[in-house]
Amino acid sequence: MSLHDRRKAPTLTGPARGGAAVTIDDVTMRFGDRVAASNIRVDVAPGEIVSVVGPSGCGKTTLLRAVAGLLTPSEGSVQVDGETVDGTPEGVGMVFQHFGLFPWKTVEANVAYPLRLRGLPKEEIAARTRELVAMVGLSGFEKSYPHQLSGGMQQRTGLARALAVRPRVLLMDEPFGALDAQTAEVLRFELLRMWEEHPITMLFVTHSIDEAVLFGDRVVVLKGRPGRVHEVIDVALPHPRDRAVARSEQFAALRERVWSLVMSPDAGQAG
Ligand SMILES: Nc1ncnc2c1ncn2[C@@H]1O[C@H](COP(=O)(O)OP(=O)(O)OP(=O)(O)O)[C@@H](O)[C@H]1O
Ligand SMILES: [Mg+2]
Repeated sequence: MSLHDRRKAPTLTGPARGGAAVTIDDVTMRFGDRVAASNIRVDVAPGEIVSVVGPSGCGKTTLLRAVAGLLTPSEGSVQVDGETVDGTPEGVGMVFQHFGLFPWKTVEANVAYPLRLRGLPKEEIAARTRELVAMVGLSGFEKSYPHQLSGGMQQRTGLARALAVRPRVLLMDEPFGALDAQTAEVLRFELLRMWEEHPITMLFVTHSIDEAVLFGDRVVVLKGRPGRVHEVIDVALPHPRDRAVARSEQFAALRERVWSLVMSPDAGQAG
């Protein structure tokens, strides 16, 4: 079977999936008296993409920050490959909702930042940074500062920085939410192509139901404030997830299903 045939095949016979397993084990997140997310359980298999949708303020970013080790769960725990997260785990990269770049650092310094933190030799940092900048299509902009870049270019920088750690897990927090529709569409399919070449584990938070279905092997629908898991939908769409998949009837049916769940009243919540 040629590579081309294999990549047309459904998920389970597609390219071998890498990445780490992520377990969000009955996690509740609190800020003082405010509960941001309540009793969340999500298991993500190595190389699986799990999309997360839910209303603004239901705790999606908070949950990703717990997986990234930037916040500690108030109750429950997060495990990456069976190890409880305590501090920033190795090989977990996060792409932020509002890019989260250092405005005083150039593109190359932003991308190199996690490599410098790890104390890699200078030459290796320079070589890997060049490679990453090229991978996201920003060669020639190494010396530019974030304010000199378009939104799409800033988010490409954010993606390169997240990929710098050779992540086993990529945490995506509405990575295309702040971009214009056309740029978002281009980046979406570029990221999917990268993933098809090197499938790694992803938790993908988005407000776009289309995006959730396009990326996800499953879609977790959160509801309420604090957010709780309302339903988990399997997305048995074929790989690669390209434009043809996005135009299919199966895709449309899944989108409708997720849409109706998102719009349905939340039985578990008052008001
Ligand atoms: N550092 C913080 N201190 C206090 N409260 C916080 C903090 N971060 C988040 N919260 C609260 O936790 C709740 C969930 O916030 P979070 O940012 O996780 O929501 P979200 O689902 O990502 O929303 P959006 O879709 O708008 O990005 C909100 O009520 C918010 O006010
Ligand atoms: Mg958020």
